[in-house]
Amino acid sequence: MSMHRVFLAAVIGVCAVSLPCALAQDQEKLAVTHGPYLQGVTESSATVIWFTNKTCVSRVEYAPQGTSADSSAVMTAVAGRHGLIDASAGLQKITLTRLEPGVRYEYRIISREIAKFDPYEVVYGDTLIEGPYRMQTWNPRKSGYSFCVINDIHEKTDRLNSLLDMVPWETTDMMFLNGDMIDHWTRENQVFDGFLDTCVRRFARETPFVYVRGNHETRGALARGLLDLFPTPAGRYYYGFRHGPISFLVLDGGEDKPDANKEYSGLVDFDAYRAEQTRWLREAVQGESFRRSRYRIVFVHMPPSATSPGHGVSQIHQLWSPILNRSRIDLMLCAHTHRFARIEPVEWANHYPILINAPDMMVHVDVSESRLGVTVTKLDGQVVESFELQARSW
Ligand SMILES: [Fe+2]
Repeated sequence: MSMHRVFLAAVIGVCAVSLPCALAQDQEKLAVTHGPYLQGVTESSATVIWFTNKTCVSRVEYAPQGTSADSSAVMTAVAGRHGLIDASAGLQKITLTRLEPGVRYEYRIISREIAKFDPYEVVYGDTLIEGPYRMQTWNPRKSGYSFCVINDIHEKTDRLNSLLDMVPWETTDMMFLNGDMIDHWTRENQVFDGFLDTCVRRFARETPFVYVRGNHETRGALARGLLDLFPTPAGRYYYGFRHGPISFLVLDGGEDKPDANKEYSGLVDFDAYRAEQTRWLREAVQGESFRRSRYRIVFVHMPPSATSPGHGVSQIHQLWSPILNRSRIDLMLCAHTHRFARIEPVEWANHYPILINAPDMMVHVDVSESRLGVTVTKLDGQVVESFELQARSW
């Protein structure tokens, strides 16, 4: 029996015997309110996130696709700190480890309600199981796949849904959300209503997205908690990773205006943050895997500019372009301006093409060992741009 079938049987079995929660403080049933969705995928790990309406203890069971449920290959992951397994309502965030590169897995999420949580008496209530869902890890040896990029959704889920209609899911290993998915973060539900619930419904349970922070996501009283919902392998917004023949660099351009601008009320320090990234970037482009990749692609929400008076975009250029110009970058993917542009390499600025995607367009990149096929399509189906980048020998 496949793990899929075994999991389904298990769900029915557990639900049938779950205790009616006599001790529950209210009549609401234990439920997943958001998610699950995949984040922070690497060659050997991935994080699964979901939210519950009640205090519970959660785990994820996972195994290579096709594994039977009673096999010793089924692994269980929980989250905890300082010897205590997490037990709370709301965010459930569990990292799966001991994964192998390029292997397809199935996982299911399990949350067990804690109906009474006294120091010496814990009474469990209902158990909730969802899944199985499929996922795969990154694989530096994978020869072909595709990825898509959307950006500047600004909580317009109708447009997000229409853009997602254009994604060829069969070959798409990951989505890039290149910033400004929300206007700011002041209400918790803004993230869920603005784009996350749509992404979960459409793909994010099984196809991970890489969230590149935009300048609007730095705004609002809740903005400092964004990384809790969208954790990265590095534990910060800027990092690098490898999948197939591509090394990706994800950079965080911060805000567009000077730190002292009255709009930020003295609460930002992006000059120092960009300097910190500059030091990291110098090291990152020296890495063995990065240098030996067939392609190198950079994501940053705000495009670098050698001519604009804008503080953020000119600082991104001054700090990062010299490093990237020495690092044989094949393509930079940006957003922010809300206007499509393809900027050709020039000697005095960027030595690599820069593609600025518009809010009503989607970038699709078809990856193979010999070429990158880049297509930008508008919501009405019009192909705005299509070109190939040949792999360079090293
Ligand atoms: Fe922006």
